[in-house]
Amino acid sequence: MNALVTGTSRGIGRAIARALAGSGTRVLCHARDPEAARTLADELGGVSVVGDLACVAGVAEVARQATAAAPELHLLVHNAAVNPRPDERLDGFELETYRAVHAVNVEAPILLTQALLTALRAARGAHVIVVSSEAGQFSGGMSGTGLSYCTSKAAVNAFVLVAAQALRADGIRVNAVHPGWVRTDMGGPGAPLSADEGARVVVELALGEGGATGRFFDATGAQAW
Ligand SMILES: NC(=O)c1ccc[n+]([C@@H]2O[C@H](COP(=O)([O-])OP(=O)(O)OC[C@H]3O[C@@H](n4cnc5c(N)ncnc54)[C@H](OP(=O)(O)O)[C@@H]3O)[C@@H](O)[C@H]2O)c1
Repeated sequence: MNALVTGTSRGIGRAIARALAGSGTRVLCHARDPEAARTLADELGGVSVVGDLACVAGVAEVARQATAAAPELHLLVHNAAVNPRPDERLDGFELETYRAVHAVNVEAPILLTQALLTALRAARGAHVIVVSSEAGQFSGGMSGTGLSYCTSKAAVNAFVLVAAQALRADGIRVNAVHPGWVRTDMGGPGAPLSADEGARVVVELALGEGGATGRFFDATGAQAW
């Protein structure tokens, strides 16, 4: 099985890549820093993929490298994301921050999925997983972190639903996952879960037998959007 995981330089993405490789998956380890991608790919016996997901050209470059390495892509994990202002409120809203956050958290997953459709279709039964957040969960109230981040996760959740419907006929599943509150650079040192624990829900969904598509999962199972 070939899997592309974005944002494997650190945090949950690196833990996802290690866990997938540990179960026999050939992992395409993406990072924007070439050294970070290469080091992890060497460790895991995988392939390094390099590109900045904040710009359209960078996304295209990631897709080009991934397709060359894996013409059949069975699993695509959109993990990379940013939250530069966790305390951003409406009073202090800045359009620049909003656009930067939405470029990585929303536009990149959409564009990268689109660019990899041929490889996903070729794999017959591929799975696209977006590492999202309860910060974008309508039924959860979307509180506790920045405005740009919350709206980006709500938007990418909408993408999951739309893409799941669009790709159902191709046999491609698309799901979203909330990993929990995880001790990473983004989650901070006070979070209760380790990166390995945060990765678990993603990896279990990726390797599991279930046929769900268009759903939002956390560690306890499928949740309301
Ligand atoms: N931590 C939590 O508590 C928590 C909770 C809910 C959801 N999540 C979600 O879980 C996922 C992983 O979060 P994390 O906590 O592991 O975050 P993190 O430690 O901050 O890591 C973020 C990853 O995204 C990459 N990235 C950021 N901007 C990029 C860009 N422009 N191009 C390419 N890669 C880029 C980073 O690469 P660089 O090293 O190059 O910056 C890094 O590998 C995210 O989708 C996040 O929203 C996290």
